[in-house]
Amino acid sequence: MKTAIILGTRPEIIKMAPIIRALEKSGTDFFILHTGQHYTYKLDRVFFEQLQLPDARYNLDVGSGTHGIQTGKILEGADRILLAEKPDVVLVEGDTNSVFAGALSACKLGIKVGHVEAGLRSYDRSMPEEINRILADHCADYLFAPTSSARQILLGEGIPEEKIFITGNTIVDALQQNLSLAKSKTTILSDLNVKPHNYFLITLHRQENVDVQARFASIIKGLQGLVKEFNIPVIYPIHPRSRKMLTQFALETSGINLIDPIDFLEFLVLESNAKLVLTDSGGVQEESCILNVPCVTLRDNTERTETIEIGCNIIAGTSTDKILECTHIMLSRKNSWINPYGDGKTGERIINILKGVFHG
Ligand code: UD1
Ligand code: UDP
Repeated sequence: MKTAIILGTRPEIIKMAPIIRALEKSGTDFFILHTGQHYTYKLDRVFFEQLQLPDARYNLDVGSGTHGIQTGKILEGADRILLAEKPDVVLVEGDTNSVFAGALSACKLGIKVGHVEAGLRSYDRSMPEEINRILADHCADYLFAPTSSARQILLGEGIPEEKIFITGNTIVDALQQNLSLAKSKTTILSDLNVKPHNYFLITLHRQENVDVQARFASIIKGLQGLVKEFNIPVIYPIHPRSRKMLTQFALETSGINLIDPIDFLEFLVLESNAKLVLTDSGGVQEESCILNVPCVTLRDNTERTETIEIGCNIIAGTSTDKILECTHIMLSRKNSWINPYGDGKTGERIINILKGVFHG
């Protein structure tokens, strides 16, 4: 079995890491094709170093651009490499342009596609990620659904049940493999001069939030409201997209502690010790749930619906008042939910399934 891992952004590197570990352990042939969608050290290389991942054999260096430019460049580059390498299976994870373009290239070349984190739906087609995940699922031959509700969604879209495997989410593996190391190695709390459970942690980078001035401004106001009401730090490791838009809109951020993106181990420590997390990230909604930290989602919907059902997450949207109200609601809840995303063996499970297919 020869596997091609196609990835291109921060969350894909983090969530593919347990699969790459499992591939290394299995002794089967594999290589990494990096699209280059993320290229800044703090969104890319730092995770290869910290998670001790093998270097990508190829980097398409597609960089930033419109959705069409990124998707088109990835298709062109992936076609060329997949034709030369002839893998038996291509694995992609999540819902970015890299994921959809990687899956489409392989599918059109007649190479089997495995989609990790299949079956998530926000039912909001204005989000580029929703389009990417639907199309990737429908290109895939093996759909690795994190939960039974994701499987139900796929069945509802007519995907044959023999293609769908409930595996859990590799983010649980990533946390289990890194959390104790993170706690022993990082000094982020003292670096930022914050005390455990005495600060809010923010991440915010979605196109529909930060590229729209009124929405971004309203969220910033909500965060400033938190500072006023709780009188504790609000820490926001800011994605370069958001930094760029903040400057472009000249938004006033006094009271919010803006820092550069941090590495995974630092982020895990900051996240697991937060009083509460406010985010529009998919991965951060899952992680906070697994780490038993309440979450307020700064979006109008979520595809991580399990987190809402078990009570660890709430949808606030972007209005200033609602952000404050939802923070109070979440702080009044008991953090006693059960992680719906599996046992931390998802990476190995996925590789075992594929070995069963290709080695019989
Ligand atoms: C992408 C994904 C999003 C995912 C996020 C993870 C799509 C459609 N979006 O969003 O689903 O949640 O990655 O973080 O695939 N930039 C840099 N350095 C980089 C990369 C980007 O400075 O290494 C800046 C550039 O100004 C760029 C902007 O960020 O224009 C947006 O980058 P892009 O790759 O288009 O999307 P993300 O917002 O990163
Ligand atoms: N993350 C990180 N440093 C940061 C912010 C986030 O390492 O400064 C990690 C976080 O632990 C999670 C992932 O990045 O695993 C989430 O990525 P992102 O929010 O960029 O993408 P999404 O999950 O929304 O696609």
